[in-house]
Amino acid sequence: MTTLPDFKLETHFSKWEFKARYHMTASDAQSISMRELLDMATPEERAEFDDQWLGYTETFGAPDLRETIASTFQNQTAQNILCFAGASEGIFAANNVILDKDSHALVVTPNYQSHEELPLAICDATGIPLDPNDNWSLDIDRVAAAIRPNTKLMTINFPHNPTGAILPLDRYMALIELCRKHGIYILHDEIFNGLGPTGTKHLPLIADVYERGLSLGVTSKSYGLPALRIGWIACQDTEILSKMERLKHYLSICNSGPSERLAKIAINHRDELLKRNNAIIDENLPKWTAFFERHPDLFDWTVPDGSCMGFPKYKGPEGVEAFAQSLVEQSGVLLLPGSIYYTRLGDTPTNHFRLGYGRHGLDEGLAAMEAHIMSNK
Ligand SMILES: Cc1ncc(COP(=O)(O)O)c(C=O)c1O
Repeated sequence: MTTLPDFKLETHFSKWEFKARYHMTASDAQSISMRELLDMATPEERAEFDDQWLGYTETFGAPDLRETIASTFQNQTAQNILCFAGASEGIFAANNVILDKDSHALVVTPNYQSHEELPLAICDATGIPLDPNDNWSLDIDRVAAAIRPNTKLMTINFPHNPTGAILPLDRYMALIELCRKHGIYILHDEIFNGLGPTGTKHLPLIADVYERGLSLGVTSKSYGLPALRIGWIACQDTEILSKMERLKHYLSICNSGPSERLAKIAINHRDELLKRNNAIIDENLPKWTAFFERHPDLFDWTVPDGSCMGFPKYKGPEGVEAFAQSLVEQSGVLLLPGSIYYTRLGDTPTNHFRLGYGRHGLDEGLAAMEAHIMSNK
């Protein structure tokens, strides 16, 4: 098996996530305790949790959980759902099932690293850069120009990590049409779907609108429940699901039974959780904007479309890498500098950094960041 390079983002988090005082770059919404989640449960859901048998569960995922996940789509049934250990296992399975050494893959850049390293470990891949001068949008003509006869998979992610951009609907539909014409699967990482300031317009889930679309979902981000490690792929193509299920026998085999019960509760109470998480975003996002307005010499900021992340530019003379390093080492404020998103598939804009606005405690972090900037002036 090809050796995979270090996962820069996860390596950085391993070093700092639980050490830095102010985590100002989280991509997941504010989490809750198990007690809070169980307090939301109906008596039946609570009984299902208490009575959960601790044997192996079905590789595809518990049938009632698959039904619950399917209910978040317009046109899917339990048969169209395969569960995974987090979104990460789904990304691994989709790339390994759809691609072989003779294939070619397309991915947007910058990106969550597994979306480019996993195809690159199997075959040739081309990066299509999102354009910072066009609200981090995707140029569909560039995608068309990069398609080869052996292109099998295009991976997208909107709302996007790290920019929070959402592709305009007409471009999304044009991309689907283009891929349909060439028989290309689209893996859409939709794990931030539903998350964003109140009123955010999210895209239709790809499994509902494209017969070769793979909708990647998870409880980790919009729901704020990454510890559950329950992810899924929805797809109209049940043969692809069956191939990924057979690969899952080599991976996690099945999900954690207790987590399946908790995920069912979370998804059944999706509206309540999203309302709560988006209210935190509504409160936090203007605070970042006000912060940047106080420091126009140091930052360029555009308000993101959705998710709980943004990717502003740092304009200070020492550059973003040195800025982020001194910020975390001296003042305990964790951001993700642009180097985390460097890619082997082309240039990514330098001097940007990822910030988060989905968690409590932003005021304290912003005060620490402000004090840091003032003391270094
Ligand atoms: C875009 C994207 N996809 C996938 C993942 C992995 O999600 P999970 O923790 O559920 O495996 C992440 C985690 O940060 C992510 O940002």
